Amino acid sequence: LDNGLGKTPQMGWNSWNHFGCNINETVIRQTADALIATGLAKAGYNYINVDDCWASSRDPQTKFIIPDPNGFPSGMASLADYVHSRGLLFGLYSDAGISTCAGRPGSYGYEEIDAHIYAQWKVDYLKYDNCNSKPTNKTIKERYERMRDALNHTGRPIFYSACEWGEMLPALWFRSVANSWRTTPDIIDTWLSMLFNIDINDLFADYAAPHGFNDPDMLEIGNGGMTLNEYRTHMSLWSIAKSPLLIGCDVRNISKESLEILTNSEVIAVNQDPLGVQGKKIRIDLDHDTEIWAGPLVDGSKVVITFNRADNIADKILVLFTDLGWNSTTTVNIRDLWLHKDLGEFKGNYTAYNIESHGVQMLKMTPVML
Ligand code: DGJ
Repeated sequence: LDNGLGKTPQMGWNSWNHFGCNINETVIRQTADALIATGLAKAGYNYINVDDCWASSRDPQTKFIIPDPNGFPSGMASLADYVHSRGLLFGLYSDAGISTCAGRPGSYGYEEIDAHIYAQWKVDYLKYDNCNSKPTNKTIKERYERMRDALNHTGRPIFYSACEWGEMLPALWFRSVANSWRTTPDIIDTWLSMLFNIDINDLFADYAAPHGFNDPDMLEIGNGGMTLNEYRTHMSLWSIAKSPLLIGCDVRNISKESLEILTNSEVIAVNQDPLGVQGKKIRIDLDHDTEIWAGPLVDGSKVVITFNRADNIADKILVLFTDLGWNSTTTVNIRDLWLHKDLGEFKGNYTAYNIESHGVQMLKMTPVML
């Protein structure tokens, strides 16, 4: 969507993966503070997005949406002000049906009223879900376009994140509708769910570009269901795939190790590379259950992930430069992005040794001009 936003994938925090409906304004304020205190904001995570369950009803006369008086007694304008005062951006959630997935009011039929009030509250981001849409008798496209147009009418730049779960292959036609679109069902905090989502998302790699990115759902790093090694892989794959980097844990109590994974500046730079080309799976070794993922970067280098999906260590993963579009005599400088370490010059190929089970090496390869 060409609304000036989403030139690179959005980064920030969202309440759903950790808190679900158990949210309130105190949690959101404390999260804003924690994003600053932990250095996450400085690393680029600048949206604070409140997911489902903030809204309770509509005013019977005006039809204005009313925030839940228990969780959000000060109202959303005051919460947005607080988030802005911390130098961050503020996001809300609604639904393109008659009610949200958790049964709160949806926006269908009230798009203009809702968009108007979001702009009044100074909302910067809308995640738009797709539950309870049957009674509308309208297509997904019509319903998502109605909110797109309503947001445009406000004159306020509002990032538009579509959450249609990939059912109608949104990557194929959502570019003119939203700044990002979900390609998958909901992530859960397991190794298999994470892989399931990034593998589906990979099928649509060619449809991603600045102002419109594929979204394999939010990050689970810090929620405890995977090992640190697996979370590092999760971060690597989301970064190379130009996926939104939306933290889904309780950043008020984040561990040093999770923080290290989320703030690796060289990995984030891959995700935020201005070229905006989604890296993809370029080779699969079914015998050893290993893969190579790769994609181009703006400066002419490539980012490469050697990925061991197997339950045992991978002795070696061979990367042929011809697979990367170079020739067999090309010499490249290789840097390990997780270790922040130059590995030296390699000609024609590179072998990664002893990759831990479920682990990766994430490399930047830059041709040496002779
Ligand atoms: C379904 C979405 O896919 C989730 O990310 C979350 O927003 C829930 N709905 C909220 O009900």
